Amino acid sequence: MFITFEGLDFCGKSTQVHLLEKLLISQGAQVKVIREPGGTNISEKIRNVLLDKKNKEMLVETELILFAASRAQLVGEIILPLLEANAYVISDRFHDSSIAYQAFGRGIKLEFVDELQKFVIGKAVPDITFLIDIPIEEVVRRKSLVKQVELDRIERSKIDFYKKVREGYLYLASRENRFSKIDGALSIEEIHNIIIKEISKYSKG
Ligand code: TYD
Repeated sequence: MFITFEGLDFCGKSTQVHLLEKLLISQGAQVKVIREPGGTNISEKIRNVLLDKKNKEMLVETELILFAASRAQLVGEIILPLLEANAYVISDRFHDSSIAYQAFGRGIKLEFVDELQKFVIGKAVPDITFLIDIPIEEVVRRKSLVKQVELDRIERSKIDFYKKVREGYLYLASRENRFSKIDGALSIEEIHNIIIKEISKYSKG
């Protein structure tokens, strides 16, 4: 089963990925957690280029294609073989991030970004995607708690950018049946419980 987590920066998805991983392992399942961009030697190198604060001159076209390249490698090297072996694969971000951030956020044509994602992921379509949705004001508040020097290149973006990214996610949640949108204002435990329920519904159904 392939499960992905999506949401704006600081939405709390990494905490949920970790909790779910612990639970599935305690049930004896084979689980692999990956983070995007990254997850293979080649993809981690691409990640460093993408998130390096010094790369201020990066074009949006370059950004889109580097995310796609990192993902293609991850799909072929890690995700597909694990899914074929019946493991759980949990990804902290996946192709929906490119639609939300690069198409909606950066303004690259949606049809093109969609087509590129199909090419890159092939059969590795997530079974369930959890969108942890938080309002922009909450992103701003949580971001203000982090020291400016610790923010990566994309986290330094302006409010306007995050508004567009959120619109992108809400659009995807209404377009794709595999999406489950969760209110990010709920407690960590409440969100975790919703996730468990959704996964067991899927497994039974
Ligand atoms: P990361 O530090 O992994 O952030 P997070 O913990 O919030 O997932 O950095 C990933 C950044 O890259 C994040 O700001 C979202 C952005 N991103 C894209 O713009 N497009 C993509 O396709 C992906 C996977 C991430």
